[in-house]
Amino acid sequence: MAIDWDPPICLILHGHSFMYRIFRLKRLIVVFFVLITSSFVGIQFIPTTRNESSEVSKTDISQVAEVPSDIRSILNNSCYDCHSNNTRYPWYSRIQPAAYFMERHIVDGKKELNFSEFGTYSRRRQKSKLRSIISQVNTEEMPLPSYTWIHWSAKLSEREKKLVEEWATRLRNEPVDSRE
Ligand code: HEC
Repeated sequence: MAIDWDPPICLILHGHSFMYRIFRLKRLIVVFFVLITSSFVGIQFIPTTRNESSEVSKTDISQVAEVPSDIRSILNNSCYDCHSNNTRYPWYSRIQPAAYFMERHIVDGKKELNFSEFGTYSRRRQKSKLRSIISQVNTEEMPLPSYTWIHWSAKLSEREKKLVEEWATRLRNEPVDSRE
């Protein structure tokens, strides 16, 4: 009589057994979990520079140009986090990768337009930035949608858009102090 020499161990070694597949799957899940966790911990050590200053700079747009209080609060609330030298950081800004993306937005945003340094721009540059503000706000490219997605209150209403447009248009035609 033929004896069935196929004990479970052989099945395990050849990877045919159901239990072995489960075992492999579990191992895969553990490896995956360990990788994800360790890379999350790892990226926490990536340094970022914080964009904070305690006072309003002398070259801030509000110091060199006519910025009515309603416009000031719109800019403060919807634009200054990325376009000034002072960001109001939320709690998760200390956690990567959020900190990294925030820093990128701030660096790129300030490079294009920094309200804290508006007074250092040439009149020509100021005018071109004001024109750009009008178009960015009208086309809803600014504030960045990825930002308003989290900061609901930063989204501009139709009325606020109109106020910004009127103000920027007025400022384009007015002389503004500038340290050219
Ligand atoms: C979450 C960050 C963030 C916020 C908030 C934000 N911006 Fe920007 N902004 C950027 C970045 C980044 C750029 C440059 C890259 C781009 O155009 O997407 C930019 C570019 C611009 C430019 C283009 C400048 C140029 O020279 O063409 C204008 C104008 C502008 N923003 C105005 C605004 C205004 C006005 C607000 C508020 C109503 C605002 N932004 C809010 C991040 C932001």
